[in-house]
Amino acid sequence: MNDKILIIDFGSQVTQLIARRVRENGVYSEIHPYNKVDMEFIKNFNPKGIILSGGPSSVTEENSPRAPQEIFSYGLPILGICYGQQTTMTQTGGKVESGHEREFGRAFIEVVDDCELFKGFWNKGDKYQVWMSHGDRVVKIPDNFKIVATSEGAPFAAIANEKDKIYGVQFHPEVAHTPDGEKLIKNFCIDICKCDGSWNMGQFKEIKIKEIREQVGNGKVICGLSGGVDSSVVAALLHEAIGDQLVCVFVDHGMMRSGEAEQVEKVFRDQFKINLISKNSEKLFLDALDGETDPETKRKIIGKLFIDVFDAEAKKVEGAEFLAQGTLYPDVIESVSFCGGPSVTIKSHHNVGGLPERMKLKLVEPLRELFKDEVRALGYELGLPKKIVARHPFPGPGLAVRVPGQPLTKERLDILRKADAIYLEEIEKAGLYDKIWQAFAVLLPVRTVGVMGDSRSYDYALSLRAVTSTDGMTADFYPFDMAFLSKVSNRIINEVKGINRVNYDITSKPPGTIEWE
Ligand code: XMP
Repeated sequence: MNDKILIIDFGSQVTQLIARRVRENGVYSEIHPYNKVDMEFIKNFNPKGIILSGGPSSVTEENSPRAPQEIFSYGLPILGICYGQQTTMTQTGGKVESGHEREFGRAFIEVVDDCELFKGFWNKGDKYQVWMSHGDRVVKIPDNFKIVATSEGAPFAAIANEKDKIYGVQFHPEVAHTPDGEKLIKNFCIDICKCDGSWNMGQFKEIKIKEIREQVGNGKVICGLSGGVDSSVVAALLHEAIGDQLVCVFVDHGMMRSGEAEQVEKVFRDQFKINLISKNSEKLFLDALDGETDPETKRKIIGKLFIDVFDAEAKKVEGAEFLAQGTLYPDVIESVSFCGGPSVTIKSHHNVGGLPERMKLKLVEPLRELFKDEVRALGYELGLPKKIVARHPFPGPGLAVRVPGQPLTKERLDILRKADAIYLEEIEKAGLYDKIWQAFAVLLPVRTVGVMGDSRSYDYALSLRAVTSTDGMTADFYPFDMAFLSKVSNRIINEVKGINRVNYDITSKPPGTIEWE
């Protein structure tokens, strides 16, 4: 088993980034909430070091979160970040105070002493940029600690007890705005914790294949294939592990993009030789959606029908015992909630979460430990084409949420499909596809007057959308140049009958969402 780092989460918005930075150094890491971690857990998990995350609480408040007290004398290296530093101080004899000015955003620290954490990139006497986000700050450290960096807002910006290998930083090394943060995390994991840094996707693949074989035995596994990255990687991995014991089911609800269904069949049936049931249910879905324009109702109709169709197809696979799903690590991490109460539903996302109970199948979830970029790396490792591995996200209800405010008909979907394909083709040609998180066209529920040749036209307007994002939670529109937009607009209006006007959507998220519905 690989060397591991345990990340104890105190509820910071950026805890996941710590895990990613650790893993980028070839060290496996897991995040666990502070209130679920005790010494028994730590001994079983057997990490080579512990990182304490930031968090929204103040250690000066009664009943604020703490790390298990024993970790400070257990002998493992510890790195406390922001709140993690403050609780380390509170629990080892230092002192933290609130009420100072908040320090938020870019700041500069001055390195005042040598430290293992900084070895090779930060030198004594020099100043470096970091990212801070804190109200409280450490005001006194125990005798066995020394100050190794200071900043204007945080006199104890970095502290170290090199004998016991306990470190604390007030700034956030895990975010990109601390340009040398990655190196600091690397020094902690590799030099200080002595992790061997050998975790990689090739090795992960071999371990998972063995685990899948053990879990499944001679059983049959069904896998819902959507053509998206996650389900494609699950299918390719399972196929490598258990060959013909895997049956994939692809339900074409008629709201896929141009050529998508054909591509799934070509890659998985023809190239990978995977048993694939491909069910074209376009008519069934369009009939069920007939006349419907409400976004949530459309989503619910599609979600429910999808499960019905999938279930019916899967039942034809005799003796199936398992269902494979592309659940990823961000869906699994238990979050530390401080606000309580349910959050507002903006959109009911369609996925196949309800399937396992209904189908009485046991779950196979080989991607549960991976972040999205790791899933992509695994996809390449499995020989999947870039077209699938690097593709933009596509929502479960497909083009249905890109024809807002008007009933879905095959004619409208076909118009949208053609325009969308031209837009994506031009993005690919311009070499912009990988710079964009998601790009697509939306068919607007309005006809406008135009003049084409000497005739009057009265056709649909179309909106183009392209956003940059790192996680889909926030997004900004992509700043295409005008020549590019003009070319796309000309091509669409000339080549797609039914569209005579093209707009570009410049809304960020928030306040907009990425999809229009
Ligand atoms: P919004 O529109 O909420 O979308 O800003 C954020 C991301 O989620 C995708 N999306 C979905 N994905 N099922 C999915 O699997 C859905 O029902 C769904 N709705 C939106 C959207 O494309 C974007 O990447």
